[in-house]
Amino acid sequence: MNLTPFKELIKQRCGLIFEGVGEKPLVDGLHKRIAANGAENATAYYAALHGNDLEFHELVCLLTINETYFYREPEQLQLLADCLVPRILARKQDAAPLRILSAGCSTGEEPYSIAMALREKYGESAARMFRLEGGDIDKGALEKARVGRYSEFSFRALEPALRERYFERHGKWAWNVRADLHEQVEFHHLNLLDKSTHHALPDYDIIFFRNVSIYFDTPTRRRIQQHLAALLKDDGCLIIGTAETLANDLGVLNLVEENGLFYFAKQPLAPRRPHFEVPVLPERRKTATDWLAPAPLPRPAVPERPAAPQSVAPSPANIDEALRLTREKHYEEALAIIVRLLEQQPVASDALLLKAHIQLHRKEYAAAEETAQRVLKSEAWSVDAFVVLALAAKWRNQNADAVKWFKQAVYARNECWPAHYYLGELYRADNELEKARRAYRVALQLLSGQPAPGDGLSIIPLGLPPTEVRFLCEHQIAKLDGLRAVAAQ
Ligand SMILES: C[S@@+](CC[C@H](N)C(=O)[O-])C[C@H]1O[C@@H](n2cnc3c(N)ncnc32)[C@H](O)[C@@H]1O
Repeated sequence: MNLTPFKELIKQRCGLIFEGVGEKPLVDGLHKRIAANGAENATAYYAALHGNDLEFHELVCLLTINETYFYREPEQLQLLADCLVPRILARKQDAAPLRILSAGCSTGEEPYSIAMALREKYGESAARMFRLEGGDIDKGALEKARVGRYSEFSFRALEPALRERYFERHGKWAWNVRADLHEQVEFHHLNLLDKSTHHALPDYDIIFFRNVSIYFDTPTRRRIQQHLAALLKDDGCLIIGTAETLANDLGVLNLVEENGLFYFAKQPLAPRRPHFEVPVLPERRKTATDWLAPAPLPRPAVPERPAAPQSVAPSPANIDEALRLTREKHYEEALAIIVRLLEQQPVASDALLLKAHIQLHRKEYAAAEETAQRVLKSEAWSVDAFVVLALAAKWRNQNADAVKWFKQAVYARNECWPAHYYLGELYRADNELEKARRAYRVALQLLSGQPAPGDGLSIIPLGLPPTEVRFLCEHQIAKLDGLRAVAAQ
């Protein structure tokens, strides 16, 4: 089957992209709909699909990924209830309810979670203080959201006490959202790329747009963010899933950091846009270690990879030679060149990173960490340094530290698929299966890009083979899906 015209139509109309392993759901979905329509072949189905909105939505409902659960990323709900809402309320001139939209709400767990978090903070008056809405392209998912009935699996991250408070049992396996919470949330059909579905949705104070943008490419993300910006009030905020936030810093809205969490504001609010201190000498300044513990850091506004003011890159031939030797694991010879380079330029970060990489591979973990920290003093956002620190922790079984550093790596550069993959491995080892699944999926998504993706690292030759990692991600996701299906029974 020639998938290209279908891919183009779907991408153009709702943004979803299907590449590599992601093609399988498209092929399966097309087979189902071709059969359901009694179309002779794919070409005949394409002709029928083109002008038929109803059929297009039937197909899209087979292609969306509706993965969601209550109290996903609860820190962001806390940020909403404790920081954003009080600030908006303090500025408000009228008594109209504050409007919150969950864009890409799937089966409704997100908007109901927002409603719960606000009830927890503001009590019964939350019912008149807030107007909550959910929107999604998938009408089947919206129907479930409207019904508000959930199985155990949706509650995997929710405290039992909250379930008791806000849900009523329905039979042995299901729970219904309690009527007062149910009434507070309204659902709309919404295609984020199609402005004609936006007319019912103006003037939001806050929009949640979490775990949706991962299915789109950058130009589509930008278009969608422009649409979401148009739906926000002038002082409104957009909250994007933590792992996606930096990949959505596209210059449309202002990235703001608050208590280690990020969101976008239409206008810069207090606190202001994260300010990246390009590290300058000579007086005592924050080291990367000061900055990094314990909360994640704001990414540099510009530039992505600030040059160390005092470093002059060593001659490319020399660093290239050191890199070649490191790749070939001729560590002694590589180090001999690196030492010479560092004598000339003690803060040459590429040379330091190769040195740290070699120390790591020689199991000189403390030395590797020290060298990586030296890099962070002049390049506070060196993804390579974060990855060295993460691996040094991982290989010593210090999983919590390894997770922290890999997270820094993906904050600094979301394309760093090795960091996502390792996060998957670490979460899986800690039995955090949902997080593991998600990390593998991000790695897989990045690895499915065309052409074959870079790993986001500037110099260290990590040597992870993309094809095998892709295979491992698929394998782990399939296993985790199996576990989830068993748990849901
Ligand atoms: C993985 S779910 C995210 C659910 C929830 N926001 C969360 O974080 O748990 C992604 C949702 O985005 C929806 N979606 C995908 N493309 C969309 C589009 N163009 N417009 C609106 N919703 C879309 C899908 O139907 C799906 O339900």
